[in-house]
Amino acid sequence: MTVILDGKSLKNKILEEIKSHLSKSNNKPTLVVILVGENQASKIYVNNKKKTAENIGINSIVINYPEDIEESILIKKIEELNEDRTITAILVQLPLPEHIDKNKVINSISPKKDVDGFTPYNFGRLFAGEEPYVYPCTPRGIIRLLDEYKIPIEGKHAVIVGRSNIVGKPLSQMLLNRNATVTICHSKTKNLAEITKTADILISAVGGKIIGKNMLKSGCVVIDVGIFKDENGKTRGDIDFENSFSVASYISPVPGGVGPMTIAMLMSNTVELFEKFGNN
Ligand code: GUN
Repeated sequence: MTVILDGKSLKNKILEEIKSHLSKSNNKPTLVVILVGENQASKIYVNNKKKTAENIGINSIVINYPEDIEESILIKKIEELNEDRTITAILVQLPLPEHIDKNKVINSISPKKDVDGFTPYNFGRLFAGEEPYVYPCTPRGIIRLLDEYKIPIEGKHAVIVGRSNIVGKPLSQMLLNRNATVTICHSKTKNLAEITKTADILISAVGGKIIGKNMLKSGCVVIDVGIFKDENGKTRGDIDFENSFSVASYISPVPGGVGPMTIAMLMSNTVELFEKFGNN
């Protein structure tokens, strides 16, 4: 029997816990989300983050900049927010427009307010096997989902398709920390199917329908991080869900799997920063 990994229900449970926890205190954390340009998907994500934060007692501020904003203005704003004692957490929604050096912008966020865990300090600590202030939201959400369903990680072969800084790379370290054997595949990987067929846990984070039933080992755990609209306007992930379903032991749906978990972990990270550093 195949089990669907229900990220939406788990998100609701986690948010309820955070809401109840925050209701006991007069002080609230404040999350700032910076959105540059008119990327439609980013707008939806940012809106979702704002609404969710407000529902559970986290203040949220969205700062919108036009597509052609100068990099130096963006960085100056982040430096101001770093110094602002009323601000707990800063998130710069990615992707940024081409003319902006994404790394330079991320590097300007104080590690103590880096709610994504993307700054060199936090990313470096993760890769050095030390505790970052917080772990990147999507990888953390994936591990939380596996743990909720008591899916063992130690000794398993985890194959990650996608090497992004947002998902693939940090997830590889977090799975290594849990004693998985980890393989990362990407767009230049040869014989992708041969590798994915050896996965006990397969995580796809690409954003295009690339994983079919014939690429899976029977009984594997499938985590789908991809999300896009297909030619009929239907929201879907990287995995051919309908056909892969019966091959997998556990499978995460799109929507309703990893996406909600990312939001839940963003809220949880905001609270963690608040408890570690207050509003500093
Ligand atoms: N764009 C897509 N996912 C993410 C994320 O987790 N954090 C940020 N900052 N931008 C994203």
